[in-house]
Amino acid sequence: MTTQAEVGSVSAIRLRQLSKTYEGHGRTEDLVALRDVNLDVAPGEVLAVVGASGCGKSTLLRIIAGLERGHIGTAEVGGTPVTGPSPDRGVVFQEHRLLPWLTVEQNVAFAVPHLAPRERRETVAEHVSLVGLRGFERCYPAQLSGGMAQRVAIARALAPRPGVLLLDEPFGALDAFTRMQMQEEVLRIWEAERTTLVLVTHDIDEALFLGDRVVVMTSRPGTVRRIFPVELRRPRDRTSWEFAALRKAIHQEFFQSRAREPEFQI
Ligand SMILES: Nc1ncnc2c1ncn2[C@@H]1O[C@H](COP(=O)(O)OP(=O)(O)OP(=O)(O)O)[C@@H](O)[C@H]1O
Ligand SMILES: [Mg+2]
Repeated sequence: MTTQAEVGSVSAIRLRQLSKTYEGHGRTEDLVALRDVNLDVAPGEVLAVVGASGCGKSTLLRIIAGLERGHIGTAEVGGTPVTGPSPDRGVVFQEHRLLPWLTVEQNVAFAVPHLAPRERRETVAEHVSLVGLRGFERCYPAQLSGGMAQRVAIARALAPRPGVLLLDEPFGALDAFTRMQMQEEVLRIWEAERTTLVLVTHDIDEALFLGDRVVVMTSRPGTVRRIFPVELRRPRDRTSWEFAALRKAIHQEFFQSRAREPEFQI
């Protein structure tokens, strides 16, 4: 099966020998959050990253987003080294981070200040509709459910038409049912936009439902332990035998990666 991941020759994201150490910060020793991470994400690919809490997933995503400093190694997006945030890299965090005093449409418009008024209105309408929120344009974040607020965050991240969308546990705060619905939404949006997508999650099912490949990370230091290609046709059947077999293999890898962690001491 040919996936979008195999199309195109230039990597959308290229990470080489990426390491990040946090110094001190209340600990007796420096903390090696990432060590020698090498990863390529092809244009249009969905890469899912799973790993235990604290293994460096957000640090990795923040480096790609240009929100982290003081790391070593290189991070390139579209062949250009990342030196800071860019509208070409949309980010969605676990909490929606919408501006509470702005409406849905104003929050999305906030991401495209450079557009002329008419184009801005059209872009906002298109993206509000893309995430299924037509009719809620004038609502404030406090008037939305958790899932709706995350949809607005996705619309805001996509409005500048980024080449790369970075999702950091975007559905972590949602209940299991809404979470599955949102995963289907993301799939639909990705099929419409074909942006390169990096998804960080604790949820192996979520990673398997969405990812072209699933990266399992180790903790302290955060490294790439193993990469699983997911060659299942979309939309994926979470109840299929193939899905269950891959889930089991990733579970085993995930728990073996945790077994090496030192015991927590006070
Ligand atoms: N600003 C910071 N200062 C000091 N240490 C930090 C900082 N940010 C992260 N760390 C440390 O780096 C390690 C990796 O953190 P990171 O947030 O990347 O983990 P994570 O895999 O995203 O975890 P979670 O799944 O809980 O979100 C952790 O041990 C954390 O304590
Ligand atoms: Mg995190």
